[in-house]
Amino acid sequence: MQSSTMDTGNTLKSPKGVYKINKIVGKGGYGEVYLTDYTAKNTSNSEQVALKKIDLHEMEKKKCKKEECKKEVKVMKEISKSSTNQHIVKYLDSFIRKAYTGGLFSCIAGMKSPNHENLYIAMDYCSHGDLSNKIKANVGSGTQFDPEIIYDYIYQIADGINELHVKYKIAHRDLKPANILIAWENGKEVLKISDFGLVKVIESLSRIQSHSKWCGTEFYMSPEQRDSIKCRFTVVDIWAIGIIFYELCIAPKRLDNDEMDDIREKVKNDQRDTTWLNKMIAKDPNKRMSAERVHNEARSKSYFYRLQNGVSKSRAIYTVAA
Ligand SMILES: Nc1ncnc2c1ncn2[C@@H]1O[C@H](COP(=O)(O)OP(=O)(O)OP(=O)(O)O)[C@@H](O)[C@H]1O
Ligand SMILES: [Mg+2]
Repeated sequence: MQSSTMDTGNTLKSPKGVYKINKIVGKGGYGEVYLTDYTAKNTSNSEQVALKKIDLHEMEKKKCKKEECKKEVKVMKEISKSSTNQHIVKYLDSFIRKAYTGGLFSCIAGMKSPNHENLYIAMDYCSHGDLSNKIKANVGSGTQFDPEIIYDYIYQIADGINELHVKYKIAHRDLKPANILIAWENGKEVLKISDFGLVKVIESLSRIQSHSKWCGTEFYMSPEQRDSIKCRFTVVDIWAIGIIFYELCIAPKRLDNDEMDDIREKVKNDQRDTTWLNKMIAKDPNKRMSAERVHNEARSKSYFYRLQNGVSKSRAIYTVAA
């Protein structure tokens, strides 16, 4: 049974404060994300916070998996607390609540099912949506991304990923445009990696197996991740950054199955040359660049295009990249 979405004005209490639902901002494969007005205990001021609801009620062997979830969420919160990297979403709070069993009667009566629970994760609200919506908008309007912007985005993404790889020794493993949120800070778009560490939480849910969930994600999944081949933990994220880079380069053309089949085929047969893109999606995972190198090189390239601005603005960089 599905737990219902939350309405505007509904409130949720956690040990730390109260979340008042403002509106739903997105739906994922396993729950929804809401914009809330959050008031911390013993304060009167509220602030905007995003609250992600993860439906736990389909978990198998619930007890042990719930513990696994809690452990992973703890890791996410610890990273958030100690990291000063501005390209990582900050997680603020998490709690588990019983879900209503559904139906008008149970809502009125306040009946809760002992087996139905939701995990709530509070995090920074990113007011400019996510990178997948930005790409969709350019595809829809037939607009190319400016090379300076593409490299700046990649620089920001690689900066956040490098922090996860080097400082925390974890891989994201589900890096995709929908997990790259966009905040507006000091008059500038700031990209923030979200859902890091969450893949493990999600893997403990039986719904991960559902195909609808993986369809969108599969584009960004490296060959060795697909085939469950063990390798250095960082390389799967570099593959994903490469595909995101490619997707930004080809916009307004859409990344679709044919395009992906073509990329995979060329990688498999080692037919690609040694340009920048290919150093992220090399067939041999050990030949892929590190996140630090992607970050440094993307920064220089963005700087180069900034200097060239006006001259090269109309030039598609895919010709350089592919
Ligand atoms: N902190 C946030 N601030 C603003 N919007 C957010 C935030 N977190 C998520 N969203 C929005 O909600 C959408 C759904 O997020 P969610 O992580 O649940 O799903 P997803 O990333 O699309 O897919 P998946 O289920 O694989 O994670 C995002 O794509 C984004 O647009
Ligand atoms: Mg997500």
